[in-house]
Amino acid sequence: MPGIQRIILIADKVKDRVRLPEDLQIPVFKEDDVLESAIRLVGQRGKRNLWALFFLPLEEVTMVNSFFKDFKKTEVAHVSVAFSGEMELPHNSPLLASILDLRGSAISELESRFLIDRAFRDMEQQKHDAGEETRKQITLVDTYHDLESLIDIGKSLTLEKNSDRLLRQILYLSKKITGADAGSIYITEKDGQGGRRLRFKYSHTFSKELAYEEFTLPFDESSIAGHVALSGQVLNIADVYDLAEDAPVSFNRSFDQTHNYRTKSMLVVPMRNHLDQVIGVIQLINCKETGEKYTGNEAYELLLKEPQDFEQGVVPFDSRYENLMQAVASQAAIALENNRMILQIERQFDEFVKASVTAIESHDPATSGHSFRVAAMCVNMAHIINLQKSGPLAEVQFSETQIKELEMAGLLHDFGKVYIDPGIFLKGEKLYPHDFVHLKLRLSYLYRSMELCYARELLALKSQPETTVREKIDRLQKDGEAKLEALREIMVLVTELNKPSILNEDRNVLIQGILSQAPGLECEDLEGSHIPLLEREEIENFRIARGTLNREERRIIESHVEHTYAFVSKIPWPVEYQQIPEIARKHHEKLDGSGYPDKIQGRDNIPIQSRIMTIADIYDALAAADRPYKKAMELKRVFAILREEAAENKLDGELLELFISEKAYTTGKVESHQRS
Ligand SMILES: [Fe+2]
Ligand SMILES: [Fe+2]
Repeated sequence: MPGIQRIILIADKVKDRVRLPEDLQIPVFKEDDVLESAIRLVGQRGKRNLWALFFLPLEEVTMVNSFFKDFKKTEVAHVSVAFSGEMELPHNSPLLASILDLRGSAISELESRFLIDRAFRDMEQQKHDAGEETRKQITLVDTYHDLESLIDIGKSLTLEKNSDRLLRQILYLSKKITGADAGSIYITEKDGQGGRRLRFKYSHTFSKELAYEEFTLPFDESSIAGHVALSGQVLNIADVYDLAEDAPVSFNRSFDQTHNYRTKSMLVVPMRNHLDQVIGVIQLINCKETGEKYTGNEAYELLLKEPQDFEQGVVPFDSRYENLMQAVASQAAIALENNRMILQIERQFDEFVKASVTAIESHDPATSGHSFRVAAMCVNMAHIINLQKSGPLAEVQFSETQIKELEMAGLLHDFGKVYIDPGIFLKGEKLYPHDFVHLKLRLSYLYRSMELCYARELLALKSQPETTVREKIDRLQKDGEAKLEALREIMVLVTELNKPSILNEDRNVLIQGILSQAPGLECEDLEGSHIPLLEREEIENFRIARGTLNREERRIIESHVEHTYAFVSKIPWPVEYQQIPEIARKHHEKLDGSGYPDKIQGRDNIPIQSRIMTIADIYDALAAADRPYKKAMELKRVFAILREEAAENKLDGELLELFISEKAYTTGKVESHQRS
């Protein structure tokens, strides 16, 4: 505390009218110009406070007042006793209010003793009032900063979606507002035996770089954090080394000893969720807000290194921080709970999507794993694109959420297939197995009918004298045998035609060949209905140029995109996943407008996510060995087909080259792309 210098200044004009006590201990300055003396004395006061009593004519009071008004009342104060003279003043003049006494006659020794006492008491009161005022202002500023910090914390906590980062942020902000040097954060978790325990999640000390590892603590009185978690009460300890033997908590000094640290003051606050359950504990250590002046940066500006730093630099946490930290802890708890719930919803959603995809894939076992592979390839591509530093894709950046969105779209892109008859996917030959059996039976029926027909005719001829029918019998046998042979051949040919591997030209020649023999080989059934060699649908199916699906079946399969879109659009996606239906709907569109279902044309009209998915989708359809009618294609051949499509402006060439060169098709590489 700086000392106080008391002085009395008496203006020359009034010096004969003041009689001071003989035993006065206070220095007295009798000057012609008291203001000049005051200015000099204030300048010389050093670190001391200065209290000045003036005896002066009334007309000099204004000047003295105006000089003193700029000083803090806690440092420099003054009181004036004025003598009235020529000056005429109204009775309510503020000038009169600024003086202690107004005298007309001389002041006796007794009166001056009384006035001196009163004046310095008055100045003491002024100092006290000014101090109170300053303290109120500091509290007001502190409260303002506290509120500001709370609002900031509220804002930043709601923005952070990563729980680990959120915990670090909670701790950092808590230390910053309270001026704490160190702190730890604990989270409540289940202990696996129906009970709860505390997990030490994160710790940080401004004054020291300390490594830490997660560990767990029992939910009981054995630790300070455990006690707070159990009781749900705030603990504010001035010095943990001074805790009484019988205190409900004790402090373990092993950390301090190991790390050459001195834990002194501690503020420990429970974090409660909306159900009033303690979901964690914030522990703040060593408050460094020692000065009266608030900077808000004490936590990281003042570092504790030497023992005296801890001794002089650490104070107990102000009691106002108990309330403030409870408010912070509540906000933190809400943010953590929100994150936990969002994570839980996301996890459930993920599970739901994966279960749905597994359902689609069991519906079409031929393409088992396709959706998972397509999703993984799309995610790979997004990470690879994010790493591009030059070229046309350098500007494209996918956020974590966009990558997740793309993955979801990839997983669900073929969901609409559940609405389609699984037989179509399993159709491995030009005719369904039951239709082929039907054809073979019909041909057998024709064969047997023809055999029977010739046998009967032969029998009838044989009942006649041989010499007259010999020639007829020979002709019948030859003719019959030829037709039966033709039917046997047709039975072999249809088996060939049923295979998707026959070339188109051969296919048409064979069909024409069969049909040209129809008139001699077809017959009627018992009811007189015509039995054809090949029915119209069979001819149509045998004529399928590529694969095994006819036009109608292809249309049905293509409709899976619209089914996917209709289904995926019904899901109430969070805002950040709004594009999933559109991405999935466009996975069969081609840049030249030859795709489906909307025949969209042009790069600008098909989102990059869909363009990536189209490549991954075709790659998987070609490279996977899981179609019933085909083996895995060699990679070289797959890339050649894909490049051909890019050259025809069907696929995005830049994306395709990146897909190939960076091996985005290697679905086991997701991790490495993410890390690099
Ligand atoms: Fe598809
Ligand atoms: Fe697909």
